[in-house]
Amino acid sequence: MRINLEKAGPEIRRVNLGERSYDVVIGRGILGRAGEYLPLQRKVLVVTDSGVPKAYAEAAAACCREPVICVIGQGEENKNLASFEMLLRAMLTHGFTRKDCVVAVGGGICGDLAGFAAASYMRGVDFYNIPTTVLSQVDSSIGGKTAINLDGIKNAVGAFYQPKKVLIDIDVLKTLDRRQISAGLAEALKMSVTFDEELFRIFEDFAPEEEGIEENLERIIARSLAIKARVVEQDEKEQGLRKVLNFGHTIGHGIESQCLDGSLYHGECVAIGMLPMCSPAVRERLLPVLEKLHLPTGCVMDPDKVAEAVRHDKKSEDGKVTIVETDRIGTYRLESVSYEVLREKVAMVVRPR
Ligand code: GLY
Repeated sequence: MRINLEKAGPEIRRVNLGERSYDVVIGRGILGRAGEYLPLQRKVLVVTDSGVPKAYAEAAAACCREPVICVIGQGEENKNLASFEMLLRAMLTHGFTRKDCVVAVGGGICGDLAGFAAASYMRGVDFYNIPTTVLSQVDSSIGGKTAINLDGIKNAVGAFYQPKKVLIDIDVLKTLDRRQISAGLAEALKMSVTFDEELFRIFEDFAPEEEGIEENLERIIARSLAIKARVVEQDEKEQGLRKVLNFGHTIGHGIESQCLDGSLYHGECVAIGMLPMCSPAVRERLLPVLEKLHLPTGCVMDPDKVAEAVRHDKKSEDGKVTIVETDRIGTYRLESVSYEVLREKVAMVVRPR
């Protein structure tokens, strides 16, 4: 069934986490009405990044009594201590107290940084997230993972810190280009492959020659969010089930870390990283979907370096790496594999120069 938010008005999905429960409001045009949904009659640090249209942070700021807009640089390299410090100093300089709050208006990097600053300032102030990319709308804005990178280690320092509310405005996606949309959809695809065959069929059935994937975004976002919320409700701190959301990320992160010119987006690395984790039957269904979305299915770089980066990143005490695999769409299996097995999987999608 097609969800038509324009007619139906915003949808609300509750994330049930006891006293840390919160609502995710999904609608169109709600960024400009943020004040109707969020208690912004106080000092508000509005955190955005230089790649997000200025108008978005300004629209959120216009709903606040005392907004302070902080713009961080675009890109993963800015998810660092310097940006974190800038946010904390901005709050300190403007006399923020524990009653004030932080609102992120941007993608996953912005949400991670703003959330961690909110978690840390005065031992925690309220945090609200207004994600503006597909990736952050389907995945990273929900679940309370906040972090910064340190010394080249992704998410080395961070906290589980749930937002008080998440506002998802589908209209803001209009300013994204097709490549950014597809890269974000890789995270939704990941959830469909491991948890939800019906969601996978939306990807499988759409015909790019007749309609853009944009036509299906509302359905995809709503379904992905429901999966994400269900997983986080069962395993907030990633003790078990939440690890399944790392499907495609083990090799994906290895590729990302070796992609020194930044020419591949995170979601594109995840797309490549999913393929070696699938049975031949699943791969046969996934490949045409990736191709339809213009997502890469392999890359050229040193496979040894990629495998080494994965080993460094994910190694457990017995030298093995836990990966998420799937034998059938909508199912998953956690497996502990040796470095040699991992190296073979890397070689399936990473070709040497
Ligand atoms: N993005 C994966 C997670 O939130 O666990």
